[in-house]
Amino acid sequence: LKLGILASGSGSNFEVIAQAIQNQQLNAQVQVLIYNNPKAQAAARAEKYGIPSILLNHRSCKSREELDAKIVKSFQEYDVEWIMMAGWMRIVTQVLLDAFPDKIVNIHPSLLPSFPGIRAVEQALKAGVKITGCTVHIARLEVDSGPILMQAAVPILPDDTAETLHARIQVQEHKIMVGAIALIADRPTDKNVP
Ligand code: GAR
Repeated sequence: LKLGILASGSGSNFEVIAQAIQNQQLNAQVQVLIYNNPKAQAAARAEKYGIPSILLNHRSCKSREELDAKIVKSFQEYDVEWIMMAGWMRIVTQVLLDAFPDKIVNIHPSLLPSFPGIRAVEQALKAGVKITGCTVHIARLEVDSGPILMQAAVPILPDDTAETLHARIQVQEHKIMVGAIALIADRPTDKNVP
């Protein structure tokens, strides 16, 4: 499975993928990392694993479509088959979806369809739910929608802040991110969409 990773931030999900591949837990390889934020720590993690990385800054693009067209070009140059959005904080357009139909995977820090969009952890705290979690799904045009591949539940504790809760969610994210890629690697054909 030839993966292209999109990341905007710390890149911990990206690193668990790279680590699982290094440990031969996953029959996959990361062809390239694309990040959109010059400060993203994901770039340093890529360097550590000898994975090429490309900065495509959304601020120098006139539209979301222009950014996605650049992403498509780079991923095609690196022979990418599947895209993992590992903390990608940009809204995906039809340009990217059409180039990789049903082959774009997103991770989100809530039990979708609850709490899509930004600040999902804060949304769950504010709603007063007792259980939240994380979801890995195939991306569709609507933000944080699409067929679900894996989910994990995380209880909300009485003293939780957004930070403590997000930290526990991330422990689960790292498991289902690798689990979902393993699922896909076992069934890399059209049957991957549940
Ligand atoms: C993760 O918690 C991921 O679920 C979230 O960003 C974080 C990235 O962490 N993604 C979204 O909110 C997308 N809607 P990381 O950079 O350490 O992998």
